Amino acid sequence: MKITIQALMELAVIVHRHSGIVLKKNKAYLIENRLQPLLEEYCLSSFEDLIARAKTSSQLTSRIVDLMTTNETSFFRDKRPFALLKEKLLPDWQVNQQQKPGHLNIWSCACATGQEVYSIAITLMEYFKENISSHTIKIKASDISDSAIVKASRGLYSNYEVSRGLNPAQLKNYFTREEPHWKIKDELRSMAYFEKMNLLQHEIEYGKFDIIFCRNVAIYFSKTDRQRLFHSLSACLKDNGVLIIGATETLFDINEQLQRVDCGGTAYYCHK
Ligand SMILES: C[S@@+](CC[C@H](N)C(=O)[O-])C[C@H]1O[C@@H](n2cnc3c(N)ncnc32)[C@H](O)[C@@H]1O
Repeated sequence: MKITIQALMELAVIVHRHSGIVLKKNKAYLIENRLQPLLEEYCLSSFEDLIARAKTSSQLTSRIVDLMTTNETSFFRDKRPFALLKEKLLPDWQVNQQQKPGHLNIWSCACATGQEVYSIAITLMEYFKENISSHTIKIKASDISDSAIVKASRGLYSNYEVSRGLNPAQLKNYFTREEPHWKIKDELRSMAYFEKMNLLQHEIEYGKFDIIFCRNVAIYFSKTDRQRLFHSLSACLKDNGVLIIGATETLFDINEQLQRVDCGGTAYYCHK
């Protein structure tokens, strides 16, 4: 079914209002493809009918937003942030703790289907080794997509998914086989807690974190929403806290509270 320009613009308003995601006019094909199954499921004969129904159903609106999110991710995506974590951020955190056991709070704030969360957990395991249990470690994992956060929380991945970014030793050490899937081991799964969350929702109480991963999500937002997001995230960093954004992203012209630190071929942001 083809979408009219009028319907596309109305859908764009709904999706933007509920997620901040900007849908451009050239995304008609993508919208048609992703939302066609909803038309069939709800026995609707046009996108106009879908919009009318969404206006009276928050559940349907949430399904539309979910379908319009792009959940592309992989284990150890872009590699360098995880090397940075292991070689710089965790040693610095230990120095700040004066080498004593401490509370380490990390947030993966648009975690998609969880590969980022478990890549962080594996990096922590590889860094702390047998001393890991002497620290209180919590990884908050959130995303706006219901389906993505459910999958993240299950920690079940296909052969194809584990082939993207994990080496054989990591697969052997941190996953168990549950045919036809691979399941993240409980000791890693239990470091994380999962929550559906819209990053642009005003009233959310975010908390305070040592490290925030906010990668490859702000690219879908308008400049104003990016400014608002990074303003909130900056308030969520502890004094020595660190923000990591996507490899192709920058806070230039977006946020003045945080300064960029280049390190090991990548960069992180911290308070000035
Ligand atoms: C491309 S994925 C990035 C996943 C991971 N951070 C990475 O870099 O591999 C973008 C994620 O942002 C989520 N997202 C989009 N808008 C959001 C919002 N307003 N609040 C929270 N998550 C959002 C999407 O559901 C999607 O899972």
